[in-house]
Amino acid sequence: MSSLTPREIVSELDKFVVGQAEAKRMVAIAMRNRWRRQKLDPDLREEIAPKNIIMMGPTGVGKTEIARRLAKLAKSPFHKVEATKFTEVGYVGRDVESMIRDLMEIGVTMVRSEEREKVRVRAEKHAEDRLLDLLLPGSTPQSYSFTPMPDPAAPQAPATGLATANESTREKFRQLWREGKLDERMVELEIAGQDGAAMSIMAIPGMEDMGGQMQDVLGRMFPQKKRLRKMKVKDAFNALVQEESDKLIDMDKVQDIAKERVEQTGIIFLDELDKVASKQDHGGPDVSREGVQRDLLPVVEGCVVNTKYGMIRTDHILFIAAGAFHYAKPSDLIPELQGRFPLRVELSALGQEEFYRILTEPQNALTVQYSALLGTEGVTLTFADDALREIAAMAQKINEDTENIGARRLYTLMEKILADLSFEASDKGGQHVVVDRDYVRERLADIVENRDLSRYIL
Ligand SMILES: Nc1ncnc2c1ncn2[C@@H]1O[C@H](COP(=O)(O)OP(=O)(O)OP(=O)(O)O)[C@@H](O)[C@H]1O
Ligand SMILES: [Mg+2]
Repeated sequence: MSSLTPREIVSELDKFVVGQAEAKRMVAIAMRNRWRRQKLDPDLREEIAPKNIIMMGPTGVGKTEIARRLAKLAKSPFHKVEATKFTEVGYVGRDVESMIRDLMEIGVTMVRSEEREKVRVRAEKHAEDRLLDLLLPGSTPQSYSFTPMPDPAAPQAPATGLATANESTREKFRQLWREGKLDERMVELEIAGQDGAAMSIMAIPGMEDMGGQMQDVLGRMFPQKKRLRKMKVKDAFNALVQEESDKLIDMDKVQDIAKERVEQTGIIFLDELDKVASKQDHGGPDVSREGVQRDLLPVVEGCVVNTKYGMIRTDHILFIAAGAFHYAKPSDLIPELQGRFPLRVELSALGQEEFYRILTEPQNALTVQYSALLGTEGVTLTFADDALREIAAMAQKINEDTENIGARRLYTLMEKILADLSFEASDKGGQHVVVDRDYVRERLADIVENRDLSRYIL
């Protein structure tokens, strides 16, 4: 578990999210509290429930971004789910517990890839040997004992005219492969394919979870069919590394670690909570909103959910809820749920100044992204400061004139400003393009002035 202090967490978040200091502080505390809890006596530890958070604020101001970054920082399994999803027709009775199953799935994937990374060197060695077997059938050296189950029925790789290759040829090939000279060659490789039968079960609405479990059972009953596929040596190698690392890692251990991590550090981001908050139902075919809240309650309060990896306790999973809360207020939630989300924070709408900072400060700022993208074409793209000021001002203006979509406005603006350049960049290798205020104005003038036009284009 990450041992960053709240101050450190906030400063990490600052690298990606501009402003919203209060929200950052709050999630930092929530994260640190988990670390503190781990230090306690087991008895007391069990008693301490996470303090779930509600983030309120208009669209595009960083709610999701903060939660996502926090999870990344903490290496927590993170799952985002819309509360409204459970009100949809066709999902009647669909249990909200599926979000825990999804979270566990994410946890397992996360831990498995970490474990794969640990055995990577060994897996690559095995994969390389198997690759050479494919390229030079019959050249398997004595020392190579990692032969998969011999299967006389398995089709041999096509004769390459090198069937008599001896060990020294093998070593030469190894050298060639390591130098990347064989990357583009084609080989045939047998790999596990999709299980068609189980896939069709997945398609029945409301039965996805059962589908998952059935798939598991079916998978055990009928081992996965292998398919022969032609592919480039490079891709074959990657597929082999996957297969070999899966042989080397202990899936039981992966599941245990994942379970622990999900239960102790998992984060569920419950979006659009405000949409299920209002008290009156408007009738219609939707599942009642209060019903959804009632369904959510046990999961948020702590219960045991049966997943295909075993029972998962939800007591210590952190829930971060979000919503605009323009009409409904947190006090419109059923009381039991209100108590389960004791921390509330409001995120402020973003203005010109914030937009300017969003364009310049974050490590992954849009300006950095576009410069890097066009850099691949050999175009050097730089933004003059006055251009960024101009974009920020326009973003603010258009948000006011049409609809306030927060920082997302910057995406639509930038795309419009750079549309021509993006199209032509391939022919402009070696050039240096400076985007300044005039450049921006030129490309946006007509649109910004025309409200109707900006509704459609920006
Ligand atoms: N304060 C901010 N600093 C940096 N980038 C931001 C900020 N706010 C939003 N963004 C950028 O805008 C985009 C949308 O933000 P985000 O997904 O967090 O919005 P949201 O608040 O969750 O909105 P919604 O209610 O629509 O889900 C993201 O790509 C994010 O990087
Ligand atoms: Mg969001």
